[in-house]
Amino acid sequence: MNNITVKIKIDNEFKYFEYDGDLNIPVTTLLERLDWPIEYSCSCLQGLCGACAMVINSAPKLACKTFLKDEIMVTKYNQISIEPLSKFPVIKDLKVDRSVLYDAMKDCSLWLQSDARIGEDIDFEYEMSLCLMCGCCMEACPNYGIDDFVGTPVAVYASKLINQETSHDHLKELTNNYKEKFYPTCVKSIACEDICPMGISTQRAISKMNRNSVWKIWHLIR
Ligand code: SF4
Ligand code: SF4
Ligand code: FES
Repeated sequence: MNNITVKIKIDNEFKYFEYDGDLNIPVTTLLERLDWPIEYSCSCLQGLCGACAMVINSAPKLACKTFLKDEIMVTKYNQISIEPLSKFPVIKDLKVDRSVLYDAMKDCSLWLQSDARIGEDIDFEYEMSLCLMCGCCMEACPNYGIDDFVGTPVAVYASKLINQETSHDHLKELTNNYKEKFYPTCVKSIACEDICPMGISTQRAISKMNRNSVWKIWHLIR
């Protein structure tokens, strides 16, 4: 048993709670044990749905996969701070509205138009398909929020789709959307790379899309 202070941002102000108990629990369990009802999103509690993404000790993380003991060990401080993701509108307490992420998928035509070509680079496609749309990468991205920048998950999804799509017209649409809505605002800082809770190499996704959308020779002649 250990006594820690839990600092939670609610309505733009930090509220402080004391917790005295087991530290070998994830943040989602901690939120349930506080004697104050805190709203947050969760579904799977196994790190598989991405719903519980929030800012824990200043970095975006999945609350159900983030254990108190690890956070306390890293900070060496008997306090943990929890905030909602700052790049999305807050619905209540730690619950945010990430519908903008789904709108970006639609705006960038991220769907298969034709029969899929499977097997070009199955390991890469598998890695990209692990994306939970949690928004942690967008929280870390210095440029998300500037202009109409669509954010990292678009590059992740698009990089998988361009391997699979067989419709030339749709491929053209996908790469043109990327060129217009992602490429000019992404500064390739790769702040998104290490933050992904699924370990997806966003850098590989972005370079693949840049190669295919911006640098391919056939773009110069069409
Ligand atoms: S790329 Fe990673 S951090 Fe970004 S939305 Fe997908 S799972 Fe979350
Ligand atoms: S490379 Fe940098 S600017 Fe581009 S999506 Fe990742 S964090 Fe954002
Ligand atoms: S509740 Fe599903 S990832 Fe945390």
